[in-house]
Amino acid sequence: MLIKLTISKLGAAKVALNGTPVRYLSAAMDKGNNFFFRQLFDTVSSTYTYLLGDTKTREAVLIDPVLEHAQRDADLVNQLGFSLIYALNTHMHADHITGTGKLKALLPGARSGIGKASGAQADVYLEEGQVVTFGCHQLLAASTPGHTNGCMTYICHEQGIAFTGDTLLIRGCGRTDFQEGSSEALYNSVHKKIFTLPDYYTLYPAHDYKGQTATTVAEEKKYNPRLTKPLDEFVDIMKNLNLPYPKMIDKAIPANKVCGLF
Ligand SMILES: [Fe+2]
Repeated sequence: MLIKLTISKLGAAKVALNGTPVRYLSAAMDKGNNFFFRQLFDTVSSTYTYLLGDTKTREAVLIDPVLEHAQRDADLVNQLGFSLIYALNTHMHADHITGTGKLKALLPGARSGIGKASGAQADVYLEEGQVVTFGCHQLLAASTPGHTNGCMTYICHEQGIAFTGDTLLIRGCGRTDFQEGSSEALYNSVHKKIFTLPDYYTLYPAHDYKGQTATTVAEEKKYNPRLTKPLDEFVDIMKNLNLPYPKMIDKAIPANKVCGLF
């Protein structure tokens, strides 16, 4: 029941990537222990990549792969006997080049995916409410703009987890001063789409710079130093971050428009 309520809050357009109507899987359905999860890390850009899989059907999905680790990720997929069906990005990254294009070459059959509003090329374009299915598991795409226009949060309701990209970081959030960033939009995305998830949901961000690996909705609602503030204070904080120009942006953006292949 809780899951159905959450989905209707998101205004999900119940259509799968292949265009067929989606039947949401309820938390009450017995999935056994066939959900595979692995968090991977890039020490250069502090990016997390996530491998999710169904250990029965062997279908798997990667979220936010990094170009320099495409071979590592492909080897892991092969060693574990998975078949990669999607390599997704939460958004068009400015701090590293995506591994989706290289992974497609290493693992034929994989398709790249990214938010439609990102302006990047991919095999599938995700919009609010679309569902990515791998085996008996599902990721619900929620549009969470603000860090960039095309930012998506991928929610796996049956596992009580969500992949927030740079929209929400552990005790922080992505910057909003480039790539059509908007502090107001980011604040609304977090408060309407992420903080409305159940408190116990575990959140996995695209980066962490302090060695943390995950957080929860309850923790961020209580301890996030920016997003617990009123909107006007939040906008002020973001305006005064005085962050340096991202050193990879001029290389990363053109490459990430084409799945990292350039
Ligand atoms: Fe980013």
